Amino acid sequence: MHPADAPKVKSLGVLTTSGGAPVDNNQTSQTAGEAGPVLIQDFHLIDKLSHFDRERVPERVVHAKGAGAHGYFEVTHDISHLTCAKFLNKVGKRTPIFARFSTVGGESGSADTARDPRGFALKFYTEEGNWDMVGNNTPVFFVRDPSKFVDFMHALKRNPQTHLRDPDMFWDFLSLVPESVHQVTILFSDRGTPDGYRHMHGYSSHSLALVSEDGSYRYVKWHFRTNQGIKNLTAEEAERLAGINPEYATEDLFNAIERGDYPSWDVYIQVIEPEQALRYRFNPFDVTKVVSQKDFPLIPVGRMVLNRNPENYFAEVEQAAFSPSHMVPGIAPSPDRMLQGRLFSYPDTHRHRLGVNYHQIPINRPINSVANNHQRDGLMVVDGNGGSAPNYEPNSFGGPYQTNNRTSSYAALTVRGQVGRHTYELTDDDFVQAGDLYRLMDQGARARLVSNIVGHLKKAKPFIQKRMVAHFKRADSEYGARIEQGLRAAGSKI
Ligand code: HEM
Repeated sequence: MHPADAPKVKSLGVLTTSGGAPVDNNQTSQTAGEAGPVLIQDFHLIDKLSHFDRERVPERVVHAKGAGAHGYFEVTHDISHLTCAKFLNKVGKRTPIFARFSTVGGESGSADTARDPRGFALKFYTEEGNWDMVGNNTPVFFVRDPSKFVDFMHALKRNPQTHLRDPDMFWDFLSLVPESVHQVTILFSDRGTPDGYRHMHGYSSHSLALVSEDGSYRYVKWHFRTNQGIKNLTAEEAERLAGINPEYATEDLFNAIERGDYPSWDVYIQVIEPEQALRYRFNPFDVTKVVSQKDFPLIPVGRMVLNRNPENYFAEVEQAAFSPSHMVPGIAPSPDRMLQGRLFSYPDTHRHRLGVNYHQIPINRPINSVANNHQRDGLMVVDGNGGSAPNYEPNSFGGPYQTNNRTSSYAALTVRGQVGRHTYELTDDDFVQAGDLYRLMDQGARARLVSNIVGHLKKAKPFIQKRMVAHFKRADSEYGARIEQGLRAAGSKI
């Protein structure tokens, strides 16, 4: 039915059922007589209702709210001596990418401007398969052991009884896990509320490895530096926008690309030789800390540009499945414990969220290579399931075979010692970088940081406030004292 007053557009033709049969009437259900009940024989009605009933897939357990765009990565500087990854082997080479930016703690309908880290997830469709760089807009994280991640997320999300976000839970956990004080300082600084997704940097945060053809490897941290300039929202503006335009960042990214104002990021790496990693003054695989750019300067690699909006949000953005374990020859994991936990967790959640064949969904399929293996069957096979090709290996009938290239898919780290739960001791080192960051800020930025923390921490119980103040003081005595004063001025009895 085409309304008479609607503009003339190209018609997509006759409406059909999901089986492709033409539909005679999409307005009126079949009934038994004029006044009788609706008939179950009305396949089109049942087809329509039952599909609608199943429209939702589980939202991401974290990073549920996000926006995405297509683009490309171009090599601008030669790093082929550091890695055999083919997409990095020539200046000028372009690789298609898909990016998804997100907030962390809120549900899929939550406000884009919430004070939260921003996810910075990229899928590189390389000629040797897909590499996912799944980072954040912060170079560090709150905790450094994967077993603490789940507890932190529980503390960040809703109270099991009230279903409210709960300052007591949030600050209780952080005060008991003070390695988080560096990331907390970033979160409550101006950078905790970026002005949309175009005006922020992205980081791998973890060290990954680059591996050469001969098996030698180095650790690298990836940096994506925005060419739009860093821009942040004040706490008041972020709060106002959360009310009047919760989709602020999603809209900003879509509109910028639609008007041809393509956002771009320059891409750099910090390179750490394995011997330097062993000798560094702290463990460089501890994701609560940055490694100094004086010690490991940024080396330019390329540029990433986003120049095409998704055609369909659900198909491309919601169904995108990123994982730090989606790697290609020449890129490999480091022993960072958090990273190691993530290597497992993402494909596991994809199988739950999207199904065991999630990699067959077009946004997740390799573009410049072909998935060619012996996996078969499972829910929702849509790629022909390997046809009549052999489904086992080794075989004598021409099935896919291994490369025997053992050197390029892992960093051949030498490991000694005993299996055990080897804990990190909490040391002053855990507070130094938070203090350094505070001291780096100008007076205005310090005042905003203190006010943002006080505004939130004042809602927690006094004994929790006290613990947090002690941590902030250990980072920098002035920093902690100002928070203590601010809490007292806000009525706290600490
Ligand atoms: C999303 C787990 C730490 C960045 C997710 C998801 C899970 C998860 C289960 C949902 C994925 C999906 O449904 O597709 C974990 C675990 C961590 C961890 C177990 C630690 C052990 C981190 C860290 C970073 C990070 C340290 C950044 C450096 C992201 C991003 C997404 C995400 C960007 C959203 C990906 C997208 O846009 O689809 N994480 N995470 N996560 N995580 Fe983590």
